[in-house]
Amino acid sequence: MFGIFKKSVRLNNYITDVHSHLIPGVDDGVQSFEESLEILAALNKLGTKKVTTTPHIMGDLYQNNEADLVKIGNTLREKIVEQGIDIELSIAAEYFLDESLMDKINKTPSALLTFGDGFLLFETSFYNRPLYINDFIFRAQSAGLKPVLAHPERYSYLYNDFSAIEDLIERGVLLQLNIISLANFYSKQTKRFAEQLIEKKLIHFIGSDCHNTIQCNAIKTAMMNKYYTMAINLPLLNYEL
Ligand SMILES: [Fe+2]
Repeated sequence: MFGIFKKSVRLNNYITDVHSHLIPGVDDGVQSFEESLEILAALNKLGTKKVTTTPHIMGDLYQNNEADLVKIGNTLREKIVEQGIDIELSIAAEYFLDESLMDKINKTPSALLTFGDGFLLFETSFYNRPLYINDFIFRAQSAGLKPVLAHPERYSYLYNDFSAIEDLIERGVLLQLNIISLANFYSKQTKRFAEQLIEKKLIHFIGSDCHNTIQCNAIKTAMMNKYYTMAINLPLLNYEL
C-alpha cells in the first residue's frame, strides 16, 4: 500500500531541478526577470520546490564571473519571495570544459559554483571528446569536487558508446539527463540515447536545462513519457538535495 502511495507521489511530481538557465541576460537562457519568474511559477505548478540554476560559463562566449552571477541570482531570489512562488533557488553554473575551466580547477577550485555537496556541472563539445577530460576529472576530484556531466545523451561522440559511458562512471563522473530529451526536443537520436541510458540505469541526476518558456512547455510533454516515469523511479541523487 505504502509502495503504491510512494509511486503515485513521484508520478505526480516534477522533482528538484539541477540544471536551468534562469539568471536573466547572462547567457542564451532567459532575458528578463519576468520570464524567469514565469518559468519558476510553471515549474512550481509541475510540483518542484527546489531549482538550481546553472548559467553557462564558457570561454569567450559566456565570460560570466561567479560573483556577478550570485549577485543577480540573489536579486532573482528576492523577486521569487515577493511573488510568493514556493521555490527554493540555488545558484551554480554549467562550465564548458575548456582551458579556462582547467585553469580555475588548478588555481581557485573553491571559487567554482557548485550545487549540493560539491557537485560541479560541466559540459563538453557536442562532437569531440575533450582530450584532457580524464585529467579534468582527476583534478576536480582532487579538489574535493564531484563532476557531473550535463546531458550525456546530446554528445555525438558518446552515441552508442556504452563502454565510454561506463568508463566515465567508473572514474566517478555522475551523469545528468535532460528531461526534454525524452520529448524529442533535440533529435530522434538524442531521444533514443536518453531512453537507452535510462533502460541501462546509467543516470544519476535529471534536470530541465530550461532556457525559455518553449522548453518549459516541453517538460510537461516529457513528463507524460513512460521513460520519465522510469527515470524518476531510479535512485536519482535529485532526491538527496
Ligand atoms: Fe545547460
